[in-house]
Amino acid sequence: MVALTLLALAPLALASYSSNLVYRSPSVNHPQLAIPIHRVHRRSLHSVAHHLRKRQEVPMDPLGPFPQEAAPSTGDEGYVKYAGADWSNAEYIYSGSVNFTHSVASGDPDDKSLLIWTRAEPTQIAAVDVPVCVSYAVYTTADASGTPVTSGTAYTSYDVDFTVKVEATGLNALSLYYYQFANCANSTEKSPIGRGRTAPGADTPVDQVGTQRFAVYSCSNLPFGFFNAYGGPVRKESVDYVIHLGDYIYEYKNGDYGNGTSIGRVPLPDKEIATVSDYRTRIAQYRADPDLQENHRIFSWYTIWDDHDVADQAWKAGTANTNDTAFGCSILGVCFSDRKASAVRAWHEWQPMRQIAADDKLRIWHNIEFGKLFDLSLLDTRNYDRDITDLYYDTDYIGMLSATEEARTLMGKDQEDWFYSTLDASVARGATWRIVGQQIVFGALNYTGLGTSETFDFDAWDGYRANRNRFLQHIYDNSIDNVIVLSGDSHANWVFEASLTKVLGLNSSDTRGQLVEFAGTAVSSPSPFGQTLPLNTSAIVSEFLVAANPDLLWSEGFYRGYYELHVSAQNVTANFFALPDILTRNSNEFQSGSFAVLAGTNQVQRPAGGGVVAAGALQAGGY
Ligand SMILES: *[C@@H]1O[C@H](CO)[C@@H](O)[C@H](O)[C@H]1NC(C)=O
Ligand SMILES: *[C@@H]1O[C@H](CO)[C@@H](O)[C@H](O)[C@H]1NC(C)=O
Ligand SMILES: *[C@@H]1O[C@H](CO)[C@@H](O)[C@H](O)[C@H]1NC(C)=O
Ligand SMILES: *[C@@H]1O[C@H](CO)[C@@H](O)[C@H](O)[C@H]1NC(C)=O
Ligand SMILES: *[C@@H]1O[C@H](CO)[C@@H](O)[C@H](O)[C@H]1NC(C)=O
Ligand SMILES: *[C@@H]1O[C@H](CO)[C@@H](O)[C@H](O)[C@H]1NC(C)=O
Ligand SMILES: *[C@@H]1O[C@H](CO)[C@@H](O)[C@H](O)[C@H]1NC(C)=O
Ligand SMILES: *[C@@H]1O[C@H](CO)[C@@H](O)[C@H](O)[C@H]1NC(C)=O
Repeated sequence: MVALTLLALAPLALASYSSNLVYRSPSVNHPQLAIPIHRVHRRSLHSVAHHLRKRQEVPMDPLGPFPQEAAPSTGDEGYVKYAGADWSNAEYIYSGSVNFTHSVASGDPDDKSLLIWTRAEPTQIAAVDVPVCVSYAVYTTADASGTPVTSGTAYTSYDVDFTVKVEATGLNALSLYYYQFANCANSTEKSPIGRGRTAPGADTPVDQVGTQRFAVYSCSNLPFGFFNAYGGPVRKESVDYVIHLGDYIYEYKNGDYGNGTSIGRVPLPDKEIATVSDYRTRIAQYRADPDLQENHRIFSWYTIWDDHDVADQAWKAGTANTNDTAFGCSILGVCFSDRKASAVRAWHEWQPMRQIAADDKLRIWHNIEFGKLFDLSLLDTRNYDRDITDLYYDTDYIGMLSATEEARTLMGKDQEDWFYSTLDASVARGATWRIVGQQIVFGALNYTGLGTSETFDFDAWDGYRANRNRFLQHIYDNSIDNVIVLSGDSHANWVFEASLTKVLGLNSSDTRGQLVEFAGTAVSSPSPFGQTLPLNTSAIVSEFLVAANPDLLWSEGFYRGYYELHVSAQNVTANFFALPDILTRNSNEFQSGSFAVLAGTNQVQRPAGGGVVAAGALQAGGY
């Protein structure tokens, strides 16, 4: 029987489904966050059997009714025998043409593997009950010619928005690769060629690792402007990898936070997003931006999420306008837990990042050993296990908790324990630097006297002082040197030196366990100093803030942009780039400041910024 033959081949087809990691989105062990591939496969078989029965080739449908799906499509052109004409060796796949709608992307490289991504949308929508099949191949040649280093096939379907995420394995450390996808049914239909780069092996000596360059981004908001910041390193070919610290998308309806009408960037769908379909549509729209798309195509990314990747002021049990109470569910018609699961699922479909632990549905925190040069620890201070944050109606209460509550946590105990042991292991294995990529501003930033009601941002580490002290205590007690913290979230540039003694207001000349923080401005989200504040007034705000906060070496709040981080055995240097105009797509940028940390010093090289910055205000006196 035909249908039985198809069933017998199930394991073969299932391998092509399971090589596409997005069906896990991200955890097979959590039904809300995974698509059961057996069910997708069974639907496909059912559709084929139904089709063949209509052609009188099978007398009946042996699989029985499949109640939850729409009527299968019709039309012979929808199916091809993929592995040959002999049915004993055949599977059915979509045979029409495929559109690689969002180019390609790569990410989460380690020394042996790289995740590669594409989206393969069938252009003949009639035939989507069977899988779309793409082949992939990874090469060492820029034109994707010659014998591939690794290759395979992967299935995708509407269940996962036609996204494809494959782990390319068996790669060499610290090497450039080129990869391409093609339609299995018509190999002349190919994706653009992507470029990716693996990380060094854990034991690679520093002189072999050399200097590694990263572009560091946060807070890209479509209606507020063009993503010129993503285009900078593409045009300059100036980095090796990209780090995105979150707020890759924003959840708002047009006009609620940014109105993109006049620049043709109205967010889709035209509402505040809450369902999996909403999040997919929004991410797809952002990823259609040509500068973002090209950045993904030529650089391998390490991406973590912040609040807006779910919704404003996210913490473990809610956001500013959603939670799991009857009222919190009523505002958008979706409860917080479902909204978060939808955001997480779509994020994993679109971001070439790994599923870290099969049993841990939310875990994105992990560490990459970049040879003996550094460890890159990527944290989740936002969505994993954060205690209650400032939700606007509870600011005073959170302010009180931030100063008094010893158990307060941003990361949760599992992650926090893992983080400290990762720092210890980094020292033990002889890595020069410990670079911590995380979401929110770390340094103490006292706004009192600025004329705003705000005194501190309680949604940043300032709202979780006990947690900040535990981290600083750990590096103080263990004399852990060369710690660099990277932050986003705030839409302004900050360079801080923070240590236990400084944040406790004790001996400020004791630099033991002191770290340096480089916090970067937004790709396009507006300044926290005020959306329309002019340059001169913005500089006055910065002057006030550096005067009020002695550990703040540089403040700059006018420009949108990004920074490039250069890491070598001798120093870590952050070069900040400012974009004068994001209301048109253009390539204008200038370096607004450059700050170096020499290995072993735990402080910014003096004079900070070389004593000269092109914007904002430097700490005065003694610097
Ligand atoms: C392919 O997708 C792109 C991006 O969505 C779209 O602009 C283009 O029209 C599509 N091409 C075809 C042939 O469907
Ligand atoms: C394969 O795709 C190419 C490019 O889209 C198209 O010109 C050609 O007709 C297709 N071949 C078949 C057999 O469908
Ligand atoms: C957005 O701005 C346009 C003018 O550019 C205005 O007509 C429209 O009403 C605004 N939309 C919202 C939702 O505020
Ligand atoms: C739930 O959210 C609503 C709407 O923002 C808010 O008024 C309410 O206090 C929240 N309840 C809890 C328990 O967080
Ligand atoms: C913040 O600054 C104000 C004004 O200088 C000061 O009174 C207050 O003690 C500071 N707060 C903290 C926690 O340092
Ligand atoms: C402050 O720290 C410096 C550097 O560690 C040390 O030399 C000095 O004795 C400390 N002063 C006090 C009062 O603890
Ligand atoms: C800033 O510049 C504008 C335009 O040149 C001027 O009108 C304004 O007075 C300046 N503000 C300050 C605080 O210097
Ligand atoms: C940082 O190290 C690099 C590589 O050794 C070197 O070229 C550069 O001059 C150093 N920068 C500073 C400020 O020491």
